[in-house]
Amino acid sequence: MPERSARRVFPAGFLWGVATAGHQVEGNNTHSNWWAWEQQGLVKDATRSGRACDYWNRFRTDHDLLQKIGCNVFRLGIEWARIEPERDRFDPEAIAHYRRILEDLQRRGIRVCLTLNHWVVPQWFAAAGSWLAPDALARWEHFLLRVIPEFGDLVDLWITLNEPMVPVLAGYLAGYHPPCRRRPLEAARVFRVLLEAHALAYTCIHNLVAHPANGDGPPRVGFAGAYQWVEPYHDKGPLLPLERVLSRLVARVSFEAWDESVVSGRVQWPWGMGREIPGLAGSVDFIGVNYYMRISTRLDAGTLSNVKSGGYHVPPGVETSEMGWQIYPPGFRLVLHAVRRRFGRPIYITENGCCDSGDRQRRRYILSHLQQLHQALIEGCDIRGYMHWSFTDNFEWREGFAKRFGLVAMDHDDPELRRRPRPSAAMLSEIIAANGLTPEILERYSADIEAGCIAARFAD
Ligand code: FCB
Repeated sequence: MPERSARRVFPAGFLWGVATAGHQVEGNNTHSNWWAWEQQGLVKDATRSGRACDYWNRFRTDHDLLQKIGCNVFRLGIEWARIEPERDRFDPEAIAHYRRILEDLQRRGIRVCLTLNHWVVPQWFAAAGSWLAPDALARWEHFLLRVIPEFGDLVDLWITLNEPMVPVLAGYLAGYHPPCRRRPLEAARVFRVLLEAHALAYTCIHNLVAHPANGDGPPRVGFAGAYQWVEPYHDKGPLLPLERVLSRLVARVSFEAWDESVVSGRVQWPWGMGREIPGLAGSVDFIGVNYYMRISTRLDAGTLSNVKSGGYHVPPGVETSEMGWQIYPPGFRLVLHAVRRRFGRPIYITENGCCDSGDRQRRRYILSHLQQLHQALIEGCDIRGYMHWSFTDNFEWREGFAKRFGLVAMDHDDPELRRRPRPSAAMLSEIIAANGLTPEILERYSADIEAGCIAARFAD
């Protein structure tokens, strides 16, 4: 539960903002693999991304709102499928439009954190075998060589790949994201190809961007990783030692192996046997941390499981969000320390947020996570910014529009797609204005803080 009194001021120049992804907000990303997948009716609530939030046309309205909230950074993505809708055919109008969007942000003094790939690929690329096609990296490089010079002067922070482990695990191992494969060997190959894709993007950006928006120094490039705090489900009993082993394994498979591969430049077990990838070692100027939850590994009647069918295991008394994800602020600090130890590079929080349609948990979620983040800062983690997921309610992948992460609510059936800021948006705005958590802010939101029902066993 967040404490009520201590003042927590963030360093001068700390970046505050919100995060989105192209496919989830722009609308009509019709040439993409996700669009094609959605048409098969595979999204849980039977919705499709359709016009999404129509950010593509309403970006100025949204940027007005960003300014009202006080954001000085905005994370957004570009969609490869929009820029290269057919193999070798680039759409100059799409590129020009993205430039207009980025210039509008720059004019408003909002820094740009740009994601080059947030899982979605063009349908022509997917049809040719996606990341497993023999020429996948050549196609990716061709795209990079075209887009990086177009946007180089407008970007402050580059994210090469968003959560690369999600396509590996959900797309090729568990099979619930396109291309819906359940092939461990293919997953291992995609892991390696995505490492190469990251290294290639890192090198291309450094070679091609002479005048980055962040000033005279070299451009700043990283990836955004999906990090969870992984712990045994039981806190005592005979299963505990085995659950401990399982939790180590889950962390290893889900993010540590990726991180250690990037640090060492070699594909780490269990995804590979140490093969070297040229240009990979140390190819990060910062790390993007996406943190939402704790995962509890549970050994149950002989089954080795980290997830139960349809959701995660949640120990009794632990609060969850509407995604069924455990709300566990102390894990945030622990993850930040682990990332610092692994990389020793600056950290930006590129996602952190709560699925909460009624905005009942979100303020507490933000307050308690910012307290943990600040604690990590005091303890020596070099954290330079916080981007909340998400700005507006949007298309939440296979969950569709039913799951609502927005600081700003939106009814996707509303013909006007009106944006309605939730109370949490006002709170974040106050925090940004104060550059931290003041006693006044904590006092004003004390009712939220006290509504906390995180079990004592897990309280920080
Ligand atoms: C992350 C994704 C982001 C959004 C949030 C809720 O894993 O990067 O697009 O779906 O989860």
